[in-house]
Amino acid sequence: MTTSLKDLSIAVVGATGAVGAEFFRIAEERYSQLPKIKALASSRSVGKRLTVGSQELVVEEATEDSFAGVDIAFIGVTSEVSRRLAPAAVAAGAVVIDDGSAFRMRDDVPLVVPEVNGADVEWHSGILSIPNCSTTPLVMAAHPLHQVNPIVRIMASTYQSASGAGGAPMVELREQAQDVLDGKPARTEAIGQQLAFNVIPRIDRFGDDGYTFEEQKMRQETQKIMHAPQIRFSATCVRVPVYITHCAAVNIEFERPMSTDEARQLMNDLPGLTVMDDPSQDSYPMPWDVTGKDDVFVGRIRQDSSHPNGLVMWIAADNLRKGAALNSLQIAEELVARNCLKPNQTQQVKSVARG
Ligand SMILES: NC(=O)c1ccc[n+]([C@@H]2O[C@H](COP(=O)([O-])OP(=O)(O)OC[C@H]3O[C@@H](n4cnc5c(N)ncnc54)[C@H](OP(=O)(O)O)[C@@H]3O)[C@@H](O)[C@H]2O)c1
Repeated sequence: MTTSLKDLSIAVVGATGAVGAEFFRIAEERYSQLPKIKALASSRSVGKRLTVGSQELVVEEATEDSFAGVDIAFIGVTSEVSRRLAPAAVAAGAVVIDDGSAFRMRDDVPLVVPEVNGADVEWHSGILSIPNCSTTPLVMAAHPLHQVNPIVRIMASTYQSASGAGGAPMVELREQAQDVLDGKPARTEAIGQQLAFNVIPRIDRFGDDGYTFEEQKMRQETQKIMHAPQIRFSATCVRVPVYITHCAAVNIEFERPMSTDEARQLMNDLPGLTVMDDPSQDSYPMPWDVTGKDDVFVGRIRQDSSHPNGLVMWIAADNLRKGAALNSLQIAEELVARNCLKPNQTQQVKSVARG
């Protein structure tokens, strides 16, 4: 008999966070019957009650002992906590789908966007990762084009919302806006700087080369997911005062010229990607319209006036949905569909041999 998600037992670590809340909303929308859910968070949230479908959940503290009987552990917490809990979940027999950056670049961890590299779920050894919330929409747009005309170089400037940094920055953005309007100094605990009525050209810490860790992640993750380490990549990641949905202005250089019509057709054919591109009607994706939708949206597709083999486009996606919770659920669906919930033994042996 084929397993289905509803027959499984899942744990959601980070159940009280921005991604956790979206995860439950999507699960309710997506499945008529939900799996058995265990809601886990920090000790601060113990006893909180959540209603998901017909299940009344009481939040428990996530510890190394939380995973007995769990088939899939969705982990959406800080990297430090993931590093502590994920191995314990795997040892207890669960497969881990991790939202953070703790494991993404490990050789034995598939980094998966199912529409792009779904087959990579087949070689996991217990842990799989989702990409950064700016990488996912970018690879969704780039992948179908790369299949017919190899990409040589990508340049991206992102416009990332407050929720990309979690629930607390969303609350702080609202408070900052009120403080600024009231002529008071803005509180900057969660975001670190004033985001209200401002843009911040730094996400995460700076590296020695002047790029931020977020920009480095976008490059490395794109190359890993697309199996294309040769793609040259440069990004500037910027936080903007928007609640939800990340956007990016992207220049893509190909080996050969590509027409905008061909690009539109190729992208339209990818499930989960919607081309919204009619400048004459002022139709292009914006956060206010995209938030709450599952698809990645692409518009403003045009020839790059600075390169004969280049295209320019504007990409927008709900960072809490396709950028996080939805992609995690789709990875779980892919694991079930391919009958790959158990780790690939051959890969495990390889990992052990690598030490
Ligand atoms: N936000 C996005 O767009 C996005 C996109 C892709 C990936 N991610 C990744 O997803 C993860 C969660 O992000 P988020 O936006 O949901 O953050 P968030 O809103 O700040 O939520 C963090 C969650 O982690 C829990 N937590 C904190 N410390 C913990 C501990 N010691 N043990 C167990 N649980 C703990 C919190 O529980 P309490 O409520 O009890 O504190 C809360 O449920 C991060 O790794 C982030 O990088 C986020």
